[in-house]
Amino acid sequence: MPVSLSGRHFLKLLDFTPEEIRHLIRLSHEFKRLKAAGVPHRHLEGKNIVLLFEKTSTRTRCSFEAAGHDLGMGVTYLDPGSSQMGKKESIPDTARVLGRMYDGIEYRGYGQEVVEKLAEHAGVPVWNGLTTEFHPTQMIADMMTIEERFPDGLKGKKLVYMGDAHNNVANSLMVACTKLGMHFVACGPQQLMPEADLVTTCRELAEQSGGSVTLTSSVAEAVIDAHVIYTDVWVSMGEPDEVWAERIEALAPYQVNSEMFSTADPNAIFMHCLPAYHDLGTDVGRAVAEKFGMTELECTDEVFESARSVVFDEAENRMHSIKAIMYATLK
Ligand code: CP
Ligand code: NVA
Repeated sequence: MPVSLSGRHFLKLLDFTPEEIRHLIRLSHEFKRLKAAGVPHRHLEGKNIVLLFEKTSTRTRCSFEAAGHDLGMGVTYLDPGSSQMGKKESIPDTARVLGRMYDGIEYRGYGQEVVEKLAEHAGVPVWNGLTTEFHPTQMIADMMTIEERFPDGLKGKKLVYMGDAHNNVANSLMVACTKLGMHFVACGPQQLMPEADLVTTCRELAEQSGGSVTLTSSVAEAVIDAHVIYTDVWVSMGEPDEVWAERIEALAPYQVNSEMFSTADPNAIFMHCLPAYHDLGTDVGRAVAEKFGMTELECTDEVFESARSVVFDEAENRMHSIKAIMYATLK
């Protein structure tokens, strides 16, 4: 049976079968080819979407906007603080209003329960553009990027997530990897590991797919034969500035550096969802350097700029994969 995701929400990968996820990855590659060849694909002409952002964004917002325009759609962006949602209007009411005007709704914000509630009441597809718990659109781009570098397929590949392994990106990677038969390793301090319930769920998924989940605090053990070493910021959006001190202390040993690749697979790649603190080019990076004396945080500049780094392919692929997600759910 061909896969159809028409009318579905895209809230977390746990809601999708491996075949459905693979379908979205395939479609993403196809949209990338069409774009590169200059072939127009205004398949959703006449539709309109709205982007609700309660947190800041570069990649996710621009991907939805550019992908929406390429598909022929009208796009409305509501920035943090400029809608009535939450302050003067409840989430169910907001969802019912927007669902009357738009064909699809993107939401980036805080608790997963908010995007789930929007979906419950909207009557049109809702896409999760990042919550505290999950970042599912990022995953389609990431899996697509890994396939570009390892054309023999995702199955059996080892992805090591280094650092704050209890954040939205780490959670989502654990789900994506175990749905697709990959070996997921979370490497970091004990107190920053993913929630036990999610680990249990992912271990069950891994049993079905042939993948695995390993939690370790040993960098040396984690990186052996790794195909991907992935990291993300040590403090996520919505967390208080006060946690920087404890995170730096706990995570400094897990900063991704060149040495970590010495026992990895010879073709191993470096991934990061971005934005990244790899130098002193940001206000936050400079403030942290001044206070804590660390000039590179979750990864060294050397790794970030190395030939192994695919971070800008990942960023570009956000646009192709978000296009695939919108097309599949709206067509
Ligand atoms: N990776 C990612 O989601 O980036 P933005 O925060 O810029 O959207
Ligand atoms: N974990 C990060 C991801 C940013 C794309 C955050 O939530 O801020």
